[in-house]
Amino acid sequence: MFVVVGVTGGIAAYKAVSLVRLLVKDGHDVHVVPTDDALRFVGTPTWEAISRNPVTTSVHDDVAQVRHVALGQRADLVVVAPATANTMAKMAAGLADDLLGTTFLATRAPVLIAPAMHTEMWAHPATQANVDVLTSRGVRMIGPVSGALTGGDEGQGRMAEPERIHEVVDRELRHGSGEAAGQAWFVSAGGTHEPLDPVRFLGNRSSGRQGVEVALAAARCGAEVVLAAGHVAHGVLDAAERDPRIRIVRVSTADDLERVAGEHAPSADVVVMAAAVADYRAAEVSDAKITKDGADAPLRLELAQTPDILAGLAARRQPGQLVVGFAAETPGPGETLVERAIAKRRRKGADLLAANEVGWDRGFEGGENHLVVVDARDRVVEEAEGAKRETAEALVRRILAVRAAR
Ligand code: CTP
Repeated sequence: MFVVVGVTGGIAAYKAVSLVRLLVKDGHDVHVVPTDDALRFVGTPTWEAISRNPVTTSVHDDVAQVRHVALGQRADLVVVAPATANTMAKMAAGLADDLLGTTFLATRAPVLIAPAMHTEMWAHPATQANVDVLTSRGVRMIGPVSGALTGGDEGQGRMAEPERIHEVVDRELRHGSGEAAGQAWFVSAGGTHEPLDPVRFLGNRSSGRQGVEVALAAARCGAEVVLAAGHVAHGVLDAAERDPRIRIVRVSTADDLERVAGEHAPSADVVVMAAAVADYRAAEVSDAKITKDGADAPLRLELAQTPDILAGLAARRQPGQLVVGFAAETPGPGETLVERAIAKRRRKGADLLAANEVGWDRGFEGGENHLVVVDARDRVVEEAEGAKRETAEALVRRILAVRAAR
């Protein structure tokens, strides 16, 4: 998971080093965003060495990558430890004069903060009002706890121990508090390869990106996801591999996918078949490489249909289970995408079907998509356009709403 650790200027900053270390040990991609004041306590080399990522504090660094919002947008979770009274006031007011401020405003991920300050500062009505504002906006507090404070004072205001903060962060990353918490999802993504001989196959141009984004979006909502991943473009699985709520099972052929779906789909609350499954495979796979042998005659291949996995899963749907199909369509003249989606949903027996238009230059390999979702009453219940992450989120929200309305 992509975790941002904000560190602000208090002596407890040295303890945040252990928090970062624990998160890195869990396999997360950890990005530390210290304030300038925090760097007086622990310097950049320490954060970079421990997090294994570059560290900057300024909104003017790495401008080409729009770093001031990119970190927040990419984050699966933001934790600020320690959070000083000053930083909490800035967060409550929405001030964005440093990288932590812009990251906080740009993120839609859960935000957890571990305050650390003297008892009087914590108890001050100004700080307490900021706590109220932040918690009313969904920010969650970890601590502070009672104990020894800097300068020999005692009382409430001490930062929670790094192990405790790690425990809360870990629970949030694993289970979330999202709408799909406790649900099991089975998602397929990518294309299948159907072998012709030991060196050749029939395949398609699916990048797997849309299906993987559905798995990631469901996991962000707290679902436990089994992702059956066929052949996908380079790097498409990276984020899913880091997500503790996603278990990836690799498949190659339609038969593989049918077997894996048979194993995992029956126990799922939601099944999303986004894989581009080949409709045909070689009727007989040649054990030897097919050769021309000097002949100039055309090659005739006999193809047999593959099993329709989605139709099979829909026919054997478990009580309460929601089965969602995908369709990549090239509507002909006089036909609309919606008409084709309605016809295909009926044929497959799915509860919902998400359709998008594809062509030589659209749909499969790009980062953007235009999805139309139809339901069992032939209604268009969702239309989403934009980055595949956004269209996936719209689809997942729709699936959750349809489930909740049942
Ligand atoms: N699908 C499947 N098994 C197959 C083929 C497709 O489970 N053998 C699923 C896909 O994962 C997708 C949906 O069915 O969710 C629609 O795929 P598509 O290839 O568009 O459907 P076809 O049945 O092949 O329809 P067409 O006649 O348009 O080729």
